[in-house]
Amino acid sequence: MSVDWSALKAAALAAQGRAYAPYSDYKVGAALLTAGGEVITGCNVENATFGATCCAERTAVFSAVASGHRSFTAIAVVTNGAEPGTPCGICRQVLAEFGSDMDVLCFTPEGAEQVYRLSQLLPFAFTLK
Ligand code: THU
Repeated sequence: MSVDWSALKAAALAAQGRAYAPYSDYKVGAALLTAGGEVITGCNVENATFGATCCAERTAVFSAVASGHRSFTAIAVVTNGAEPGTPCGICRQVLAEFGSDMDVLCFTPEGAEQVYRLSQLLPFAFTLK
């Protein structure tokens, strides 16, 4: 199934608008495409302890899994700044739990973008096998 990147990007941008980032003011939106074609979004949710903060990508994955999805085709991640940010190491590992062959589109609202394969971003992901 081909990815409707413009729909996924629009969903990520909408999620970025819901980011709760009063400490860093760094707002992130993510939109995860399930194998069945559903789009599940996430935003970063910060916390006064800082350590309890959850990134946008993990919010999306946890929400998707809680809704019964475990197979993902792609994720779009939007960040502000000159260059798109890439998912942090913890998020890469969490995404890889469900397969490393998904596409990861990182973009900015101004139009900078880069597509990666998750296996490129996290080669040799940890597994218990
Ligand atoms: N953040 C994400 O949402 N995703 C990432 O991959 C990296 C960082 C968030 C966490 C925190 O709310 C803010 O960006 C600054 O680190």
